[in-house]
Amino acid sequence: MKIFFSFLLIVVTLRNSKCAKILGVFPVPARSHCILGNSLMKGLAERGHDVTIITPYTEKNLPKKGSYKQIELTEFEGLHDRRRTKMNIFEMEETTPFLFIPFVLQLMTEITEEVLNHTNVQKLLKSGEKFDVVIIEQFMNEAHKGFATHFNAPMILLNTIGANIWTNMLVANPAPTSYVPDLFLSYSSHMTFRERLTNTALYVYCYILFHAFNFPQHARLYNEYFPNSLPYYDALYNVSLVLLNSHPSLNQPVPYVPNMIDIGGFHVQPTKTLPHDLQKFLDESKEGVIYFSMGSNLKSTELPPKTRNAFLNTFAKMKMKILWKWEEDVLPGQPKNVKSGKWLPQQEILAHPNVKLFITHGGLLSTTETIYHGVPVLAIPIMGDQKLNAESIVNEGFGLSLGYKEISEQTLTQKLDELLNNPKYAKNAKKRSEIFHDRLVGPIETAVYWVEYVIRHRGAPHLKVAGVDLPWYKYMLLDVIGVIFIALVFSSYLVYKVTKKICSLCSKPKVQKVKRS
Ligand SMILES: *[C@@H]1O[C@H](CO)[C@@H](O)[C@H](O)[C@H]1NC(C)=O
Ligand SMILES: *[C@@H]1O[C@H](CO)[C@@H](O)[C@H](O)[C@H]1NC(C)=O
Repeated sequence: MKIFFSFLLIVVTLRNSKCAKILGVFPVPARSHCILGNSLMKGLAERGHDVTIITPYTEKNLPKKGSYKQIELTEFEGLHDRRRTKMNIFEMEETTPFLFIPFVLQLMTEITEEVLNHTNVQKLLKSGEKFDVVIIEQFMNEAHKGFATHFNAPMILLNTIGANIWTNMLVANPAPTSYVPDLFLSYSSHMTFRERLTNTALYVYCYILFHAFNFPQHARLYNEYFPNSLPYYDALYNVSLVLLNSHPSLNQPVPYVPNMIDIGGFHVQPTKTLPHDLQKFLDESKEGVIYFSMGSNLKSTELPPKTRNAFLNTFAKMKMKILWKWEEDVLPGQPKNVKSGKWLPQQEILAHPNVKLFITHGGLLSTTETIYHGVPVLAIPIMGDQKLNAESIVNEGFGLSLGYKEISEQTLTQKLDELLNNPKYAKNAKKRSEIFHDRLVGPIETAVYWVEYVIRHRGAPHLKVAGVDLPWYKYMLLDVIGVIFIALVFSSYLVYKVTKKICSLCSKPKVQKVKRS
């Protein structure tokens, strides 16, 4: 018995020594961002870690293992809904990124401060708790880097989208504007001259916007809420690891420095069973089903009546069934073959073999889920990275894109006919799905491994490239280029002077001769 207990004690201590205390900071009040933050932290808790998460949405479906403590940003959801009702997101479709980015930056600066000033967050900061690592969503909330310095723990960033300028800057990741289009531009990686020009201009614009306006704003917040921590700019660039919600099956391949790791698809877990009525509807629809959802942030009910009717008229003519995420009780003029639901379990629906097509806004989560299940797509992108995703969907040949302003009965019918009758789209969707699944280990296992790696190696500073320490003019070799330029100018001048001298010496007598004759 005694031996048994000492054995048990050893097992328990061994387990405890492996169990880490992890803080997650996921401040963005948007469902899709929280789904990603929660999936990562739940994945870590499931491996026995002791997780604390700062979140605007309460997670009700708690992990079965580990511990999962939520620091709720109470009232954030309501605050966001109030902000949200002031704008119809469909109307932002034509906003240029040159205006959209400063708009989001300003919004995120406000949210960053609200998080820091929140009573529950203040309580945590004063609690004297210890953490082995801090994971922060990287989304224009630079002052939150203070959570890592405050708790004196290595910092991991979770990028909810693919690599982009505001992450690349912090880890010195190269992203040549010649073939890496900005996230907010709907360009492919093979850009025309004009596209490269716009892409480069946007890069320079963002670089200045961040350095001249955004970073100083956040430095002020950082100094106010973390007065006794490391200097702001030391904290900003002290990134141990970046986890990216991307993968070559989802985005075009781009270069990564060694501390950037792809975990795209880590949130997909289609394990739940469908509600009975949906299961029956999908099973019985042997003619096939089109699933239509504009995601969690865009609401179909906000579509103008003209656009809505274009969909309804097109659907009414079809033999297939349609499953439409519609956020109100009544869908006016609902045809017989259309079923609507306020909330639909998307992953489980896409997994059903009778679902033949997904009409989506092309958000990254929806795109990831459709690739996971190999379902072809009609994308109707509105904003953010959706246009870029739509562009890559079309390039990879597993779907078509339709501009929001171009929606009419005629264009819809034409696109749907092509998508449903040409087998190439379904074939390419299956191919993408195979690329998605072909990995050494699953994406959530990859994420857990790397978080534990950073803890084991106390911040893993050996992964950082030296570019992080260089000021921008050294990083871009402007000093070297400058010296080469001056040397060239100087030697050209010298050659010119010497040539002139020689010429004048040789040609003088000749000129005199000519003059004399
Ligand atoms: C911070 O929160 C307190 C109440 O908790 C409030 O009185 C104060 O105005 C807030 N400050 C800012 C800058 O929002
Ligand atoms: C960077 O973070 C590590 C922990 O990961 C810490 O030990 C170190 O002091 C920090 N360095 C600077 C310059 O902030």
